Amino acid sequence: MDKRPIGVFDSGLGGLTTVKKLSELMPGEDIIYLGDTGRVPYGSRSKETIVKYSCQAASFLAGHGIKAMVIACNTASSSAYDVLAGSYAMPVYEAVSTPAKAAASQTGCGRIGVIGTKATIGSGAYESALMRISPDFTVFSAPCPLFVPLVEDGAIEEDDVAALAIAERYLRNLRSAGIDTLILGCTHYPLLRGVISKVMGPQVALIDSGAETAKLVAGDLSAKDMLSGRDEGGSTRYYVTDATDGFEELASRFLESDIRGMVQQIALE
Ligand code: DGL
Repeated sequence: MDKRPIGVFDSGLGGLTTVKKLSELMPGEDIIYLGDTGRVPYGSRSKETIVKYSCQAASFLAGHGIKAMVIACNTASSSAYDVLAGSYAMPVYEAVSTPAKAAASQTGCGRIGVIGTKATIGSGAYESALMRISPDFTVFSAPCPLFVPLVEDGAIEEDDVAALAIAERYLRNLRSAGIDTLILGCTHYPLLRGVISKVMGPQVALIDSGAETAKLVAGDLSAKDMLSGRDEGGSTRYYVTDATDGFEELASRFLESDIRGMVQQIALE
């Protein structure tokens, strides 16, 4: 049994898709969330910069006495997981392997799509993870760099004209590729689920990388006997690296819980 909090980070709002599921699966756990909103997006930056930012975020969380760290960001997972996992004695969870496994068990035809940031798609992390599961899969990938700014700006309603036009452009080739499963390989993208689903059609199953990662974390912490032992009453503390108001507003909408006044701005170094 371990009552210390779980640390979770992302470049911005995206990691909240993981936090929401973590709280649902483990309502008795305390969570410390860091969104590096002053430097979002990570996904259009070099690997070197992503590693640097991720190490700073991880070090902030580690300074808060956490028992486990969740990299709730596919971009940081595909560029910095090895460095972070090698730097801390606690369990460090990445956000790529579990969604890949979920897609592998979901697909019927073996044709799987992956969308993510430029860095995640460029790293080939999902292709490698899927090929390790079965070399018979055919994987179609597309970077969607404007999705993160859309989410951070709150353009997440399924009838948002700008979001639909951008999604149409990014997803056209995937739609004609005959996939039956699409990995939302960026934790921001489930906030655009309505838009993505409208463009792809109901026949394509969407895999939420944030939620899948949360399932892994819950199962693994339980197996390691590292849960708090409480069935309810867990709380979440939120930190960001830019002004808090926009984050509070959108996060409250997404989490369906009012977190206004509960977010603190900090500086990372
Ligand atoms: N939510 C992130 C991811 O899963 C990061 C997006 C970004 O900052 O570009 O990749």
